Amino acid sequence: MSERTQKVETGLEGHSGPLAGADILSVDQFDCDLLDAVFERADIFRQLVEAVGTGDRLAGYVLTCLFYEPSTRTSSSFLAAMQRLGGRVIPITQGVQFSSVSKGESLPDTIRTLEQYSDVIVLRHPEVGAARVAAEYSSVPVINAGDGPGEHPTQALLDLYTIQQELGRIDGLKIAMVGDLRYGRTVHSLTKLLLQYDVSLRFVSPDSLRLPMVLRNKAEDAGLKLRETHDLSDVIENADVLYVTRIQRERFADPKHYDEVKGLYTVDRKVMSRAKERMVVMHPLPRVGEIAPEVDGDPRAAYFRQARNGVYVRMALLAMVLGQ
Ligand code: NCD
Repeated sequence: MSERTQKVETGLEGHSGPLAGADILSVDQFDCDLLDAVFERADIFRQLVEAVGTGDRLAGYVLTCLFYEPSTRTSSSFLAAMQRLGGRVIPITQGVQFSSVSKGESLPDTIRTLEQYSDVIVLRHPEVGAARVAAEYSSVPVINAGDGPGEHPTQALLDLYTIQQELGRIDGLKIAMVGDLRYGRTVHSLTKLLLQYDVSLRFVSPDSLRLPMVLRNKAEDAGLKLRETHDLSDVIENADVLYVTRIQRERFADPKHYDEVKGLYTVDRKVMSRAKERMVVMHPLPRVGEIAPEVDGDPRAAYFRQARNGVYVRMALLAMVLGQ
């Protein structure tokens, strides 16, 4: 009998903790205290995985991963996180073309069905706000795994966790975001989170891919002097964190505009030779040429460690929303 079954039978089941039963739709839900709580749990789960591989905290629970857009890291790290905590998974991650979505089923109907089978739903969808809509229809927690160019909150949490792990702090750092700041949802979520800290932010992009106005305004409201540039050279020498992103080709209405900006920034060995000795290069991945493979062996290249951290942070989030 699982611990959960025991709790149900003894009437002791009760959701507890700050995220218990909650949806995770936006980073706006996270203040510094809650972030600390998530990262503390992530540290504990890191130790669990490193010591014994798996546990059984989520035995008896089922996760559905419902992905309407391609994914490697987000979907498989959620599946890994659930399984490393002893839970089970329904992976609709090979493309919704194999589900009834291809027959024209609406998102609300799909969600109302999947909540019958699972205790938590992770959703990636091409439309901004889709996770919020899903959450309205779902009685089980919905976790936003990317809603078009909107937000990608769990990625931002693992990005922040990685900065903390790699550099030991967040306050006082100079963080530069590079690439597609307009459509890159990971940049949107991470920027909002970082506004809660005492950091200096630099934004490097072509004019057409600047950070959206609403975020620029938010930054200014938070008392941050916005520093934008087209040129990677302006930031490389001072950055403690270089957060590189892919130009989001799938978001461009006109392929001509993508061709104009693709390949604009490349972090290679030469660029790295100008960077601080103690700094990190991050990327949510996939990369399509923004970071040359010759950089991979550089100890400052943190992007694969960043991907690994995704498992620990998602273990923490799953346990917390399930009140465990
Ligand atoms: C990102 C995404 O899907 O927004 N990938 C990820 O989740 N790790 C970034 C991207 O696709 O460029």
